[in-house]
Amino acid sequence: MSERRKVTVVGAGNVGATCAQVLAQRDYADIVLVDIKEGLPQGKALDINQMGAVLGYEPNVTGSNDYDLTAGSDVVVITAGLPRSPGMSRDDLVQTNEKIVKDVTEKVVAVSPEAILIVVSNPLDAMCHVAKSVSGFPKERVFGQAGILDTARLQTFIAWETGSSVKDVSAVVLGGHGDQMVSVISATTVGGVPIRKLVADDRIAAMVERTAKGGGELVQLMGTSAWYAPGAASAQMVDSIMLDEKRVLPCTAYLEGEYGIDGLYMGVPVKLGSKGIEQILEVDLDDAEQAALGKSADAVREVVAVLTT
Ligand code: NAI
Ligand code: 2OP
Repeated sequence: MSERRKVTVVGAGNVGATCAQVLAQRDYADIVLVDIKEGLPQGKALDINQMGAVLGYEPNVTGSNDYDLTAGSDVVVITAGLPRSPGMSRDDLVQTNEKIVKDVTEKVVAVSPEAILIVVSNPLDAMCHVAKSVSGFPKERVFGQAGILDTARLQTFIAWETGSSVKDVSAVVLGGHGDQMVSVISATTVGGVPIRKLVADDRIAAMVERTAKGGGELVQLMGTSAWYAPGAASAQMVDSIMLDEKRVLPCTAYLEGEYGIDGLYMGVPVKLGSKGIEQILEVDLDDAEQAALGKSADAVREVVAVLTT
């Protein structure tokens, strides 16, 4: 029996398999990949294990159609659910994915009562509410991935615009994972230099707009939603928890008064460590950003109101 700790990824589709692949390469935990499609998680696990012989990590992924092997997981990443098709918004997925996330959460928590849950399925903010309500877990152990992805998109556009390394672009995108998300330009820098000193306002506005619609741009190109950056973003959250890194990352957290928002999941910077969310950090927002965050909260509330869970 392996002595290593365990991460489960539910949903062996595009995002789940990418997340499992990135985690397998890190090689610090055993990974269980679960899906309802017979053969799919087993096949992807086999393929990822065989990639280890090429890239130099140990075989550490198991695929399954049930939850027995997931028992005692430290972290569970939930990516099960339908992705967007062209013309659909993330919110169009709410009814189908609510049922799936409810079903998955019940099965996960029955065998891993101490796990930390990272929700990825869309509509993300609403699906976090479902996972919290069904699991009964404290808010520190139920949260979502969206902000790392949205921020990565903005960082990429800024790196291209300024001809700088993306490693030196510091940005943060807050709010719901929808077209109302808020790029906090007042806190965005390249090598410590405020972005407004480097790029004209109209070019910044274009990048902010492209970021807000970044998911849709990829759906239009590919006919389904993105997976490389989303899978890696989810794995980054797992790293910070499993390795107790205390990274400060934009994640979808349950707010109780922070940013003037109460009883709602929204993207904000959080400190992630072995206990899950260890702190919610409050960035100073200018008036326009604060107003935009309020609008984003309204949009999330509309979707949450549709939930039956
Ligand atoms: P996909 O269709 O490639 O994979 C989804 C997998 O879920 C499928 O293999 C399916 O068989 C499985 N599944 C469905 N019902 C299940 C159940 N009850 N139990 C276990 N597995 C089940 O979709 P993809 O591209 O991986 O996206 C997954 C979800 O993640 C979608 O809802 C998508 O919108 C969302 N997403 C969220 C992002 C974020 O930043 N939060 C970014 C990208 C996608
Ligand atoms: C994305 O932003 C669809 O949430 C998914 O790519």
